Amino acid sequence: MSSTTSVFKPDVFAGKVAFVTGGGSGICYGVVKQLMAHGCNAAIFGRRKANIESAAAELSKATGKKCIGISGDVRKLDTLEEAVKKTVAEFGRIDFVVAGAAGNFLAPLAGLSANAFKTVLEIDTLGTYHTFKATIDELCKTKGSLIAISATLHYTATPLQAHVSAAKAGVDALIKVIGVEYGPRGVRANELVEQHTRQIPLQTYGAIDDIAHAAIYLFSPAARYVTATALVVDGGSWHTSQSVGGSEIYPAAFLPGGSFPKL
Ligand SMILES: NC(=O)c1ccc[n+]([C@@H]2O[C@H](COP(=O)([O-])OP(=O)(O)OC[C@H]3O[C@@H](n4cnc5c(N)ncnc54)[C@H](OP(=O)(O)O)[C@@H]3O)[C@@H](O)[C@H]2O)c1
Repeated sequence: MSSTTSVFKPDVFAGKVAFVTGGGSGICYGVVKQLMAHGCNAAIFGRRKANIESAAAELSKATGKKCIGISGDVRKLDTLEEAVKKTVAEFGRIDFVVAGAAGNFLAPLAGLSANAFKTVLEIDTLGTYHTFKATIDELCKTKGSLIAISATLHYTATPLQAHVSAAKAGVDALIKVIGVEYGPRGVRANELVEQHTRQIPLQTYGAIDDIAHAAIYLFSPAARYVTATALVVDGGSWHTSQSVGGSEIYPAAFLPGGSFPKL
């Protein structure tokens, strides 16, 4: 993994507050860490209480800013509404929202149950809508900004990823409409998109900080004229390769005799 150094002013987000679903791990943990390193306080949201609280403590310690961890499920609007109340009670406002909670696994359509398909749509698409719904009044007050984390899977047809492709396509559509409907009220909505692939025009793997720095840009005043769009941070790779599987599994694994587990 290559790494990058921030070129942004360390206090660019002083006085601001971020609300981040999925911030207890992975990419969104890295995003919230960078937001905090640039002056933000934050609330992070995930299902596992112990995990989200320990991640919040780590983030506070690492950045010197305050992070609170709130447990809940993005599939349940009331848990997000409660989390927003706690965040505003703690910090007084919400300026930045990251809808990053998601679920994924590899499965061919032939082995994918209706329930597995529905669950991914509920976490990714409905969860992003719930995150918007629970936070939009606060964003209107601060003229804030929302970022949904998406993927490039559905830009082409990616085998084994029908469920996430459908879910993220829904997120793409939702973010565009939020950007258009709430632009007049001073709220910007965008997507930050990444995907791991093997064929990368820039010839190096990305780091989580590459995504995090793009988030800083999108939340910063430098992006004040950017809304209802997607910023892909993948070294150019979605143009050149299938995101998952590639030529080793396609088409042989989908012919009779190829087998996948039932999910
Ligand atoms: N990793 C990749 O290669 C990749 C590629 C393209 C796009 N993305 C996108 O980037 C984002 C982060 O991915 P990641 O791989 O870093 O994920 P990750 O480490 O698996 O983190 C997912 C987070 O979402 C939370 N979460 C999952 N279901 C939830 C629910 N129902 N309610 C509340 N929180 C929930 C999880 O916490 P709990 O388990 O505690 O709930 C976890 O902290 C996702 O939107 C993903 O689609 C990732």
